Amino acid sequence: MKRSSLMLPVVLILITAAYLAGGRGGAATIAAPAAAPAPAADDMRRQVERLQQQIKEMEGLVPDQAAVMTHVAYHFTNVYIAVQKGNWPLADFYLSETMNNIKWAVRAKPIRKNAQGQDIDLTGIAQSIENTQFKDLKQAIAARDKEGAEKAYEVTLAACYACHTTSGKPYLKPRKPTEAEVRIINFDPEVATPK
Ligand code: HEC
Repeated sequence: MKRSSLMLPVVLILITAAYLAGGRGGAATIAAPAAAPAPAADDMRRQVERLQQQIKEMEGLVPDQAAVMTHVAYHFTNVYIAVQKGNWPLADFYLSETMNNIKWAVRAKPIRKNAQGQDIDLTGIAQSIENTQFKDLKQAIAARDKEGAEKAYEVTLAACYACHTTSGKPYLKPRKPTEAEVRIINFDPEVATPK
């Protein structure tokens, strides 16, 4: 009994203290928006600016679409010479590289303007070439069908060109190559060891 009667004022004091502290706390939080978030917003803005600067710097390091297209041309040239030499695993390798490069090229710039200034969806065009022309060529290479592969190659070149004209670049006319883009690789399928 005695203990609990002593407890009451203590509890009251604690409640009052808590109330006052809460009141001051409340006052502090009302005052806060004016003072506290300002440095945080400043920090955030500086961080965003730093990130924007870093993105700009990285964009300067990434190859642009034309640069990636030179990889497409490099690998696709080698496909033709490998087909002519009847080096099927090498032809298949270079075709896979070509297909990867085309995907990379459209990632670099998925939308372009045509000559009329309309948006062209390059991703869709590339996808359709992969599903038709590249697929036929891949099958002909897998079947070791030289004539079929050469025909499929020509049809693919026409598809390359169709995308160039659609992209407003009709002067980029791919043709059948006369020699490989690489000299250090031996295209002769009969050579057993590197020489
Ligand atoms: C989806 C559209 C598309 C396809 C498919 C495509 N190209 Fe291109 N290609 C372009 C565009 C767009 C450019 C111009 C890029 C630029 O100017 O920034 C280009 C540029 C080029 C260039 C010039 C690169 C240079 O700077 O010298 C070559 C070579 C080329 N392509 C070869 C090919 C070949 C070979 C194929 C087929 C295997 C092909 N392209 C398929 C869109 C395509």
